[in-house]
Amino acid sequence: MAPSTLTALAKEKTLNKSFVRDEDERPKVAYNQFSSEIPVISLAGIDEVDGRRAEICKKIVEACEDWGIFQVIDHGVDTKLISDMTRLAREFFALPPEDKLKFDMSGGKKGGFIVSSHLQGEAVQDWREIVTYFSYPTKTRDYSRWPDKPEGWIDATKEYSDKLMGLACKLLEVLSEAMGLEKEALTKACVDMDQKVVVNYYPKCPQPDLTLGLKRHTDPGTITLLLQDQVGGLQATRDNGKTWITVQPVDGAFVVNLGDHGHYLSNGRFKNADHQAVVNSNYSRLSIATFQNPAPEATVYPLKIREGEKSVLEEPITFAEMYRRKMSKDLELARLKKLAKEQ
Ligand code: SIN
Ligand code: FE2
Repeated sequence: MAPSTLTALAKEKTLNKSFVRDEDERPKVAYNQFSSEIPVISLAGIDEVDGRRAEICKKIVEACEDWGIFQVIDHGVDTKLISDMTRLAREFFALPPEDKLKFDMSGGKKGGFIVSSHLQGEAVQDWREIVTYFSYPTKTRDYSRWPDKPEGWIDATKEYSDKLMGLACKLLEVLSEAMGLEKEALTKACVDMDQKVVVNYYPKCPQPDLTLGLKRHTDPGTITLLLQDQVGGLQATRDNGKTWITVQPVDGAFVVNLGDHGHYLSNGRFKNADHQAVVNSNYSRLSIATFQNPAPEATVYPLKIREGEKSVLEEPITFAEMYRRKMSKDLELARLKKLAKEQ
């Protein structure tokens, strides 16, 4: 049974057992043992066709091929908007449980607050609270599910989601061109691009070595832009999943993750980032993930198959079907794990 909020559990000396992970899933590297291996790319000059554009695009493409994850700075999103978003989000999570639970989205409501597991029905919970906004297409916005406290958060979120939609489309242009396609190829393949903003709050944790803030996964969509504070906790793998590294937080930067959809459309040329979030007992942590996804009916199939290559997908499927298969595979794995534990 999921607790209503993490406020009380975070004060206990030992970790509630619903958050204790099997040994093979527990963190291998500390939240603050930072690595600077993930490329940090300045986007200053990306719009100057005869200037730095070619050099910036080359760096982005290499990062997608090598890692599927990189950071961008000088991205043009206003620093005041970024600091307002993080301040307002922190104020929301500091509210008493009853205020947060006014937006409870358990029971299938679209958008709002939840104490989350990565998947519903999993045996082990993630150590995080989240607020989810469905922000694009704009007809999916249900403002009654957007927290009205603290004052100003709704307006800041609207502006933030618009700005991030612009930045994501700019990055997708670069990747489309790198595939030798027209600039709009990837956004067009998304049909009517969907955007979901998920604000993650990871409270201080009594026994962080036994749990995860967010379990290991790849994002299902096209591209994700993640804003994180200076605490640290985002981890990615290298060497085909063998080694974990903690991404060095860079003030005001966005971490860009390629998702499964981006991976498939590039016929596997661009990696889908394998990542997780760890927690700690010293600081609470905040991150804001903006997921750019295709419409459910969009076709998932490589946009270009280079000579001598085979398609990574047997046949075209819809994004809804791709997502359903991913979730049922994950749920089946979780079910088997739960069964094995009970025996
Ligand atoms: C995510 O993968 O959605 C969030 C990761 C993080 O909080 O660092
Ligand atoms: Fe993720």
